[in-house]
Amino acid sequence: MVTARITVNGELIPISPAAPTTTLLEFLRQWGFTGSKEGCAEGECGACSVLLARPGIVGRTEWIAVNACLIPVAALDGQEVVTAEGLGTPEALHPVQREIAIRGGSQCGYCTPGFVCSMAAEYYRPDRASADGSADSEHGPNGFDLHALSGNLCRCTGYRPIRDAAFAVGAPEADDPLARRGAAAPPEPVPTVLERDGRTFVRPATLSEALTLLHAHPDAVVVAGCTDWGVEVNIRARRADYVIAIDQLPELRVLRVEPDHLELGAALTLTELERRLAGSVPLLAELFPQFASRLIRNTATLGGNLGTGSPIGDAAPVLLALGASVLVTGPAGEREVDLADYFTGYRRSVRRPDELIRAVRIPRPQARLCGFHKIAKRRFDDISSVAVAFAIEVEGGLVRSARIGLGGVAETPIRAYATEAALYGRPWSPETVEAAAQVLETEGTPLDDHRASAEFRRAMLGQSLREMYARSGEEVPV
Ligand SMILES: Cc1cc2nc3c(=O)[nH]c(=O)nc-3n(C[C@H](O)[C@H](O)[C@H](O)COP(=O)(O)OP(=O)(O)OC[C@H]3O[C@@H](n4cnc5c(N)ncnc54)[C@H](O)[C@@H]3O)c2cc1C
Ligand code: FES
Ligand code: FES
Repeated sequence: MVTARITVNGELIPISPAAPTTTLLEFLRQWGFTGSKEGCAEGECGACSVLLARPGIVGRTEWIAVNACLIPVAALDGQEVVTAEGLGTPEALHPVQREIAIRGGSQCGYCTPGFVCSMAAEYYRPDRASADGSADSEHGPNGFDLHALSGNLCRCTGYRPIRDAAFAVGAPEADDPLARRGAAAPPEPVPTVLERDGRTFVRPATLSEALTLLHAHPDAVVVAGCTDWGVEVNIRARRADYVIAIDQLPELRVLRVEPDHLELGAALTLTELERRLAGSVPLLAELFPQFASRLIRNTATLGGNLGTGSPIGDAAPVLLALGASVLVTGPAGEREVDLADYFTGYRRSVRRPDELIRAVRIPRPQARLCGFHKIAKRRFDDISSVAVAFAIEVEGGLVRSARIGLGGVAETPIRAYATEAALYGRPWSPETVEAAAQVLETEGTPLDDHRASAEFRRAMLGQSLREMYARSGEEVPV
């Protein structure tokens, strides 16, 4: 068996004897890279943020920031990581570290290495450099997108000096080693088997190998970006005897644009989809910024979001409104399941234990009037109390098609069929919308819980359609 190894700050380190559940954060700290901190161990604070080299979208290799507390180190066999220690030294600070220091962006310092790594990933983003110099409250004149820091929390400094530092960084020098690394090929995925204490972590090289393993180990846990699984391991102390990593399988990482549909590979991350689709699917473009933080979106996958079967996952309502289907593949071949028929109960689906989601298919063209309403306590980086997605086609003033996806109002994500019927064929008018909004308030069986009351959830359903109508205003396509 080939020894699993990871490159940290340019140094090759054996991963063994780490256990299959050892997180990258635990591993780094055991090796003395104690700049990376544990704040929450559930992806909420960013104190553990580090840089990871990944296949680029603009450059050949790009540095992305990830939560080291969620990813098992075994998943990074053959990969390259840079921590705050690898960026600069007290004598020779990295430009990002220097800006944070001189602008007073650090007090107790606990969050600082995480901020530095998230900021460095944005510093090196190749398309940041091409920004046109315009600025707003969320973007600096240097093209820095503040949302790059949306997964990092600071309890004592306050965010203004941190923002000042972010908006002050320049472009990397030509001889900057991490910028130069971007011109070379990214690290290849490496087939891995890591065993300890009766537990196994496997990264198969191909889809057929993954399906064979899954067939032989029907109780195996499949992992992609580990943003759900990492929380289960750290917070709920869940352990699996057999873990199969599927996030680097080439068959699950394809993005295909066909005349009548789009195919989105299940293992593409939300950041990859966001950047590669570049706004071409407006409803998805509304979803991405509202889905967790940049740190989470950098590894979280579409397959993982559907794979958990969560009734409050944000992708499902949007994909239901888009009329998407799920391509499920197993030993007997591949089948296409309408997403509206995919979920069968609370965290249950038609997917058999030896099957994987390979891709999601979205029909084209899409309805022109669309909107995603995520109702949560915070505007960004929060879990939905209710999520509503609309895709409505209006022609000649009449509703020609309407698909509405709902999350957070039943034990599965659902289509709002009764509301769709109340809209179909009617004039796109205040009267139709008001009548349909009242129907929408009766869809599903919302519950009272710590996030919201059932009454609030119902009210939000109706309001989202009224707001959708108000937003459509004069621009409604006729
Ligand atoms: C801080 C934080 C914020 C979050 N915010 C949001 C949010 O705003 N909205 C939201 O919807 N979610 C959110 N999540 C949940 C999570 O990030 C998403 O569900 C994400 O899409 C999971 O993808 P993953 O690749 O990380 O899944 P993983 O954790 O790798 O896998 C989760 C499960 O999905 C299944 N799975 C994964 N891939 C496949 C596949 N191809 N085929 C079959 N099964 C598969 C497996 O059963 C696996 O156990 C958040 C999580 C955290 C930690
Ligand atoms: S420790 Fe808080 S996000 Fe990792
Ligand atoms: S400097 Fe103390 S938490 Fe940020």
